[in-house]
Amino acid sequence: MADWPDPNSNSAKLYQRGLKVMPGGITRIMPWLKPFPVYAARGEGAYVVDVDGRRRLDLLNNFASLIHGHAFPPVVEAVQRRVALGTAFTLPTECEVALAETIAARAPALEWVRFCNSGSEAVMSAIKAARALTGRPKMVKCEGTYHGLYDYAEVSIDSTPENWGNEPRSVAYSRGVPKGVTDDVIVVPFNDVETAERIIRANRADIACVILDAAPSYMGFVQATPAFLAMIRRVTREIGALFILDEVITFRVHRGGIQTRLGIEPDMTTLAKIIGGGFPVGAVAGRQDVMKVYDHRPGKPPLPWSGTFTANPVTMTAGKVTLDSLDQAAIDRLDGLGDRLRAGATAVFRRNGFPGQILGFASLFMIFGHGRPVTDYRSAYSHPPEAQLIEKLQTALVHEGYHLARNGMGVLSTPMGEAEVDGFVAALDRITARGL
Ligand SMILES: Cc1ncc(COP(=O)(O)O)c(C=O)c1O
Repeated sequence: MADWPDPNSNSAKLYQRGLKVMPGGITRIMPWLKPFPVYAARGEGAYVVDVDGRRRLDLLNNFASLIHGHAFPPVVEAVQRRVALGTAFTLPTECEVALAETIAARAPALEWVRFCNSGSEAVMSAIKAARALTGRPKMVKCEGTYHGLYDYAEVSIDSTPENWGNEPRSVAYSRGVPKGVTDDVIVVPFNDVETAERIIRANRADIACVILDAAPSYMGFVQATPAFLAMIRRVTREIGALFILDEVITFRVHRGGIQTRLGIEPDMTTLAKIIGGGFPVGAVAGRQDVMKVYDHRPGKPPLPWSGTFTANPVTMTAGKVTLDSLDQAAIDRLDGLGDRLRAGATAVFRRNGFPGQILGFASLFMIFGHGRPVTDYRSAYSHPPEAQLIEKLQTALVHEGYHLARNGMGVLSTPMGEAEVDGFVAALDRITARGL
């Protein structure tokens, strides 16, 4: 039987078909492998079976959106029932009320919820909300943090030593971004309290919001320090700007998100991924005095917000079943598995002289091709040979039966146990012992 990367494999054939009708043959870059990606046929809990019948442990979990793995039976059953009743209505449904109640019950700062269809949309909506509330144009973000596809949110996500300057510069992500976008995004260094505070204060009159991911994925999930979090909270209050916490990924690290785990009090929170139970989703949540920006009752709201598939009952149903099955005990168990995986990988890398490291916490990890201590984007930054080392590791892992992102990111899901984690560590051992 032909298997990836055999040119006669079914993945190869699908890629050839894809090349005829899609730019580059695919839609998402994260799972890209040379010479072509593995195509998924189906998922079974912690595993994905590809179109050639090969089963691999899925450490991608649709980029951290599947906390219960694939085809989680309670979600499958609930969604099947829901689909038969209609999948999308212009009218509101009970499903949307129920998921909003479920989210609101998880943390005090999630009082009111507004749904959308992706994390990118949630971030866009929150930034627009901050502008609508304050009447100010600018936003602040940390260098190298990913917040989705909105032009403003993308600024500086892949700054390089050639363009990042002494202090973070506003660097457009794609060609043709209007200058107004980079002018209105102020970039500060993550975890550098003094510099970030000085830059924010210098622009205080124009700032609508500071958006922060408290454990950015591109930095191996290094956490914001208590001092940095306290500074953002204090300064945003003082200057009358909104503190938006991007919990699109980090909501999985505690029943009430990273805001509960670290004691953060944001004005608004952006959510997505696990709250959709495997279906497209996004949400903005916050205190009532802030979220009233969306309220239509007084007349046209300061921020009108809608969308054709927003709060569709299928997503809402899957999200509620998923969160209802995710109690703190389940999250604590994943924490323990994550610790086991990181400790195992660290020991293996040391024993085999692998020049990289594994970082992360809870159910999140990232393998780097360098061993420098990471506190921010610049210390996390991988130079091209270091990034290539991780791509080689990713490819070797596919042969061993594991899917990892090409930047070394991996996430755990509840169907995984010690056997899966130990198997992964053993694969890392074999790969790093023979060399890449
Ligand atoms: C922190 C963060 N914010 C926003 C997004 C965008 O979410 P989506 O891909 O659902 O648009 C992501 C996606 O990975 C993310 O990690």
